[in-house]
Amino acid sequence: KQYTVEVEQFTPASAQEVEEFRLKFLVTKGIIRNLFEEFKAVSPDEKRVLGKVLNEFKQLAEQKYQESLEQFTAEQSGKSSFDGDLTLPGVGFKLGSRHPLSLVRKEIVEIFKKLGFIVAEGPEIEDDWHNFSALNFPPEHPARDMQDTFFIKKQDGNDIALRTHTSSVQVRLMEAGKPPFRAIMPGRVYRNEAISARAHCFFHQVEGLYVDENVSFADLKQTLYHFVQELYGEGTKVRFRPSYFPFTEPSAEMDISCTICKGKGCQLCKYSGWVEILGCGMVDPNVLENCGIDSKKYSGFAFGMGIERITNLKYEIRDLRLFSENDVRFLSQFESEL
Ligand code: PHE
Repeated sequence: KQYTVEVEQFTPASAQEVEEFRLKFLVTKGIIRNLFEEFKAVSPDEKRVLGKVLNEFKQLAEQKYQESLEQFTAEQSGKSSFDGDLTLPGVGFKLGSRHPLSLVRKEIVEIFKKLGFIVAEGPEIEDDWHNFSALNFPPEHPARDMQDTFFIKKQDGNDIALRTHTSSVQVRLMEAGKPPFRAIMPGRVYRNEAISARAHCFFHQVEGLYVDENVSFADLKQTLYHFVQELYGEGTKVRFRPSYFPFTEPSAEMDISCTICKGKGCQLCKYSGWVEILGCGMVDPNVLENCGIDSKKYSGFAFGMGIERITNLKYEIRDLRLFSENDVRFLSQFESEL
């Protein structure tokens, strides 16, 4: 009787309780087998009554166990509540897109790689020697002034600063090896300027360097001409204007025929038909000597361009700040293969 009540009221809260129930009542050494053992000893009269009670009890216990077991296995696998269609296609997730500056950098790198240029990199935190002195900047040169350079630490004759151009990588490359050198140097550079649509405190450059015997200005012109045809399409015109950089002599700035109006004149090119895209020149012999290279034997050319400027011309972007604001409405317009 006492066991019947217990079994009837059994409401398990976990699969473990169901198992405990089985161990208590249903196994070989469990209560039910015990009761049947005791049953053997009672008188034939009692057997008639008790036999019925015992059999009913056994059935009740087995039924309860089966029910409880089903309840818990169903809950565990979660099958009882799921009636979705497993053959439906899955929910896709949205892939991001490459940043326009990365896309254009990659394009520039690919063009020069085909010409045999390798990619070189260097640190963004530089010392005065690599950023200025080795590149033939006189001590009083205005570019060293606090207005342009973010200084990090003043130290005797070799201040630490954020690099203002990736020309510093040219120095590192030449110091570390022997000519010939044929490399491009993409990277982020920093200049202390007020942030506006046309200027930012950091931007990205790709510089190039080619040093070997008998490298001439004609090589420089042809290399850059080829680069422009590849990047902006056949028929894009180029022109060189004399300029000045401490580390090149002679130096030039290169313009291309405006990519928007094709040279007819528009707002972007200030109705001149031309836009400036890079600085270049023959590596100054002083720079070669500073890097341990015999300037009588070797000559070279170098060039440097801002990736932002190149990208603006390619995609008609008019505000530099868009590149660093992380606005998805801007970024998602550059769908591309990853
Ligand atoms: N380093 C120059 C700059 O940042 C660009 C340049 C590189 C010019 C190489 C000439 C030769 O403006």
